[in-house]
Amino acid sequence: MQFTVAIDGPAAAGKGTISKAVAAHFGFAHLDTGLLYRATGRRVLDGEAPIAAAQALTPADLARDDLRTAAVAEAASRVAVIPEVRAALVEFQRSFARREGGAVLDGRDIGTVICPEAEVKLFVTASAEVRAARRFAELKQADPSLSLAQVLADVRARDERDSSRAEAPLKPADDAILLDTSDLSIEDAVAKAVAAVEAALPG
Ligand code: DC
Repeated sequence: MQFTVAIDGPAAAGKGTISKAVAAHFGFAHLDTGLLYRATGRRVLDGEAPIAAAQALTPADLARDDLRTAAVAEAASRVAVIPEVRAALVEFQRSFARREGGAVLDGRDIGTVICPEAEVKLFVTASAEVRAARRFAELKQADPSLSLAQVLADVRARDERDSSRAEAPLKPADDAILLDTSDLSIEDAVAKAVAAVEAALPG
């Protein structure tokens, strides 16, 4: 069976957690497409040109354990505005989406550009304040000098860049189901996502 779940939304809205839980619940494969942009950004920080970096990605790049830093997130958001970078990553994402057994892809443009035919599209959001507070809670252990105000400013800057770019901007597909997690527990957000997929499964 081919069955694609597209999960888009801004940083720290809960996409990753929801995507992993949905994939585990249904036994589907999961691809965090942000990793493709982060791995490209990582190579650029190491001195490569962005388009060549995107074209040269291998599975080993995606397994690097230094893709979660703020510097790499920033580099990812910058390379993601380049059309040739995005083009270099399309085919890999589409073939992942159509693999046998079902797939969940999370990112910014899965329902709009990568998989407009996805059987289920979710757009996961939360207010910038709630997302910054979540990100701050994750990062403050590793970096005690970090302030909530700084994290909120970073979240807003990245939202602005991701939403205003010409190529594949962050926006809900017309037929996406909106899931605002600002006032939801993780369990409740996952339950809503699982129910949406359940409702669309054949038979
Ligand atoms: O989801 P993330 O924080 O790992 O994404 C990192 C950056 O990559 C984000 O700022 C925007 C970009 N991105 C994108 O443009 N399209 C995607 N499908 C996924 C991520």
